[in-house]
Amino acid sequence: MSIPYVPLDERGWRLAMGLRPLDLANWLEVDDRREEELSLKTRLLLEQPDVVVATRREGDAASAELLDEVVQSLRTYHPELSSDVSRGEHAVVAASRLIQEDLCVLVRDDSWRLAAACVCFPSRWNLASKIGTTLDDIHGPVPLYDEELARPTNSFFDRLRPDRSFWRLNWTLLDNADLYQPTSPRRSTQGGRDDWFFRVERQTLRQLPRTNAVVFTIRTYVASLGAMIDDHAEFGAHLVRAIDEAPATMQQYKGWHGVAQQLREAIATG
Ligand code: HEM
Repeated sequence: MSIPYVPLDERGWRLAMGLRPLDLANWLEVDDRREEELSLKTRLLLEQPDVVVATRREGDAASAELLDEVVQSLRTYHPELSSDVSRGEHAVVAASRLIQEDLCVLVRDDSWRLAAACVCFPSRWNLASKIGTTLDDIHGPVPLYDEELARPTNSFFDRLRPDRSFWRLNWTLLDNADLYQPTSPRRSTQGGRDDWFFRVERQTLRQLPRTNAVVFTIRTYVASLGAMIDDHAEFGAHLVRAIDEAPATMQQYKGWHGVAQQLREAIATG
């Protein structure tokens, strides 16, 4: 499996908002993993509903608007796909069943707060602990967020408008390829090219015109390190450099301690 985005280059480690303008024709991404990922969502919604869904009443109206937008977007840009809405469940869940993205709805009161979410493919975080909390609290465990990203992110949310949407990329390296990775201990991993997995989140941010809520979508792509090295020249070198240069607190948060050295050896021995 390959990843359509490789957010690494010769510039090494960076922590940045990295927002780019989004054409809403590209809001949702569809690929040949759709059927498999939607089946996995169905299973998780059945077996782990309390892990993958969290809602507050404040997010109900915005979730209904989000569901309308998802259906409209599918009808307009992907008319070959089903946009039949499941009955009798929360709108954020019904919306999520139609697409490969995970969905978060944020509503402004004193501050922007997470008001509804369906996240089947979390990257080692716990949704239940974040519902109802602010952007700053959601990012509490992220090193350097408070110093470098909190202020621009809050002000970006306040300036977001329905006619100007954005997207960004986040990446990480994990020792497990599963899409569903709720909170689990981060640990330094050992192993070769096929024991490591590059995980990219394509995230979009848009403001809904009726309720003025902000929708944050997360589309997750995973590929083995071996596949990434084979498919992209210089990927291995850029990855080792980024991990090596990441601040110690970030290495700790990601479970990357000692990993750059292991990777160098894994890549050199093929
Ligand atoms: C412009 C907007 C945003 C920026 C710049 C941003 C930035 C980041 C960064 C740099 C990380 C560290 C991720 C890593 O590399 O592993 C992170 C983690 C995270 N972000 Fe955001 N983020 C944004 C919006 C949001 C929104 C709207 C949500 C809503 C749910 C969110 C939820 C999270 C969560 C849950 C984590 C993991 C935190 C943990 O480890 O507990 N982010 N974000």
